[in-house]
Formats: sequence, structure tokens, C-alpha cells
Amino acid sequence: MASTVTAAAPAGAATAEQAKGDVLVVFGITGDLAKVMTFRSLYRLESRGLLDCPIVGVAVDDWTLDDLKERARTSIEGTGEKLDQETFDRFAERLSYVSGDFTDPATYERVAAAIEGMTSPVFYLEIPPFLFGQVVKQLSDAGLTHGARIVVEKPFGNDLESATALAAELHQYIDESQLFRIDHYLGKMGLDEILHLRFQNAILEPIWNRNYVAAVEITMAESFGVEDRGHFYDPVGALRDVVVNHLMQVVAASAMEVPSRSDADTRKNAVAGLFHSIEPASPEHYVRGQYDGYRSIDGVAHDSATETYAALRLDIENWRWSGVPFFIRTGKRLPVTQTELRLVFKRPPRLGMAGGRLAEPNQLVVKLDPSTGVRLIVDAHRADASGPAPITLDVEFAEEGGEGPTPYEVLLHAALVGDSKRFTRQDGIEEAWRVMQPLLDAPPPVRAYEPGSWGPTEADRLVSGYGRWHGPWIES
Ligand code: BG6
Repeated sequence: MASTVTAAAPAGAATAEQAKGDVLVVFGITGDLAKVMTFRSLYRLESRGLLDCPIVGVAVDDWTLDDLKERARTSIEGTGEKLDQETFDRFAERLSYVSGDFTDPATYERVAAAIEGMTSPVFYLEIPPFLFGQVVKQLSDAGLTHGARIVVEKPFGNDLESATALAAELHQYIDESQLFRIDHYLGKMGLDEILHLRFQNAILEPIWNRNYVAAVEITMAESFGVEDRGHFYDPVGALRDVVVNHLMQVVAASAMEVPSRSDADTRKNAVAGLFHSIEPASPEHYVRGQYDGYRSIDGVAHDSATETYAALRLDIENWRWSGVPFFIRTGKRLPVTQTELRLVFKRPPRLGMAGGRLAEPNQLVVKLDPSTGVRLIVDAHRADASGPAPITLDVEFAEEGGEGPTPYEVLLHAALVGDSKRFTRQDGIEEAWRVMQPLLDAPPPVRAYEPGSWGPTEADRLVSGYGRWHGPWIES
């Protein structure tokens, strides 16, 4: 197993996970992520009464506090959120701003002055990953990391070696329990639904294994393209952008053993244990695609071989899953935008009772996006048919309790209260890269596909022997 990092805290001391954050410091508050995600999420926490600390923005831009407040307002409104003036005023009151270069020690002196007296700061680094080490070092040099948490955005390396090196660099200054890595899929309600459905229901857990399941399919389809993200996307590609992180979290939720306690480490142990039993992915079971027109996007190389579509098979060698392939597919410019987990069960026998008809396999679908829901496909007698035929039993969770909070609200709140359950741990990160590394080392050629299609036809051969790619729930 790759190195396992344990949270080292002095005996009897409160760990960083237990102390509630008393100030949120956002590095890169003038950037794009803050504009589209952070202000809105914090504002929504404010409106739900879940925000109770000051917020210090740090960025190189020469902004006034009024500029920042104005950016907060336009960002929140720009996301389509209806702004309540009283709530916004309360939120804006929390804001202050420190301008400075992230490489300049004087910036950190100003940050120290801005958070003087605080004992559990939460530093949220919305900055390019190459700056993580530098900023954390400077925070440590300025004496600001004691009792602090550091929240970082993906990517956590771009292969196994760089992921290990990045952690080693950060661990010089902070320990693993202080590091909160965001994978926004861990804040999605649909991911929680998978765990609850599996483990809280006596009718599901007993069949959720190789005795009943023939194959598992995970589809993350996006109908939009790379658009204005060419500079970011071209060196990355689908495997690094969403498979090694987001979709591996879906694999974890759908395949791991039940965490026997509710604490963060027990859950992370279950994830790491599952990842540990996944065989290294084989390039023979990996199909890469690129949609026509991708190469003319700004920031994309004219001869780019980056995949905008990836389909692959994973095999899990344990008692629950041995022999059950996990098929994953994702792509940009596909016919619909939807993410789902689909269990395809074994076929029932051909029975004389039904005139010798071979029934379709039952399927259980958990839809994560664009809304959450569950669908069960079973065979039943229909009045409009001469015999049994598949019917669907659907539930949209929005109709059973409304839409939950957005992933970033969940995650920022969890970071502020010190609940690390929904953040990834280094051993899980390294295991995910270990599984994907053979695909990075020997990628198959990239195949062209038509925008609006389901990707290269080669992806069909991956599932041959297991029927076909099913779904998704929303038909194209
Ligand atoms: C991001 C990727 O991490 O996740 C994007 O960089 C992708 O390329 C996005 O579109 C998908 O997230 P969601 O929540 O919209 O499914």
C-alpha cells in the first residue's frame, strides 16, 4: 500500500478536526472560483444561520474593501441567487481584505495582523496548485499554522509520483489532519444517498454484491464542451479532471464496506481499503475520445491528443466484488448532462411461465446530477402488453424533502466546523493514482467522436459480454 499518513496530535490535545474555525481566510478571493462558487456558498450559509466568523480575503489585486463587497454582491447575483438585502449586509459585514503577493513575507504579516487573537483559522487556498507549498510554508514561517486548517482545491498532483511529492512538501509544515482537500463530489447529496440506500436498507445490502450484480456502470455525461477552459483542460484531460477524483469517489461509495462508526477516519479507512483492492487499470480496457472541434478551442494545441472522453473498466478483487466489472464513462459534448450509478443485476432464468421469454436484467439507478433520484427497473405485467415487460419505479428526491444544499455549502461548512469526513486523505489519493497510473503510462490512441454523440464506438467493445451501456436515466 502507498504511504498511510496518520493524524498525529499530542495526547489529550484537541485535533484540528475538532476545533471550530474562528476565521476564514480565502487566498485568491478575487479569482474565478470565488466568483462562481465561494461567495454564493458563503452567502447561503449566512442565510441558513450557519456562518458565524469573520472572512478575510487575500489576493494580489489592489482592491478596497468596498471593491470586495461589490464583487461579492455581483458574484452572488450572477449565479442566479435571489439576494436578500439584510442577509447580504450581515454577510458583507464579515468581510475584510488584505492585498499582497503570495510570495512576499510582508503579505503574511498583514494576514497575521488581520486575524490576531484567532486560534483556529481556516485558510482556504483558491490558488493554482504550484503555489500550495509556497503559501503553506509562508503561513508556517509567519507562525500561523498552529491550530489551523488548510483547505485546498484539486488537482492533488497529476500522477502518483507528483501526488506523493506534493503531500511530502506540505507535510513539512502541517500534518495530514490539518489538510482538507476538496473533491466537490464528496459534498454531493447523491453520493450520500448511495451510502444511505446501501447500508440503511435491509432489502438492498444483501443483494449489493457479486452474488446478484452482473456489472456496475457509472456514467458522467456532460452536454457542454471545454469552452473557455482550454488552457486548463488541455494538459489535464478527462481521466485526471474527473475520473481519478470525482468518479473514484462514486466507485468508493458504491463498493466500499460499511464504515462501522461515524468518525472521519473510519470512513476514510473504508475508502482506502476499497481502493487498495482495485487492480491497476489496464490500458486494454481503456478507450479515449476527443470531440471534433476540440482542437480549435483557445488554449488547446492544434495537434492535441488530450481525451475529452474516457471509458474504462475497473476490477475489484475482494469477496464482495470479484468478477463484477465496474465500467466508467465520462465525456464532454455528449447528448445529455447527467451523472448516475447503475447496478445491472444478473438475468433471471428463462421460464416457461412467461412463454420462454428472456427477461431484461433488473437495474437500480442512483442519479447524482442534475437532480438526485433513484430508479428501479423490474419486470412486471402491464395491461398494455401481452405479458411481462420492464417498468420503472422512480423517485426524485426533490419531491421527498426538497433539494439539499449545494456541494460547496456542505464542504465549506464542514471545513469551518472541522468535520473532515468529506475530504480526501492522502492514502486514498495515492491509491486512486496507483489504480490509474498504467493508463497514464500507456494511453491508447485518442479516437475522434461527433459532438452530441455517445463517444467513440470503441467504447462498446469494453462492455461486450455484459450487454451494453445502459441509460442514462434521462434519454438523449
Ligand atoms: C470539475 C471539472 O471538477 O467538475 C469539470 O473540472 C467538470 O470539467 C465538473 O465539468 C463537473 O462537476 P459537476 O458538479 O457539475 O458534475
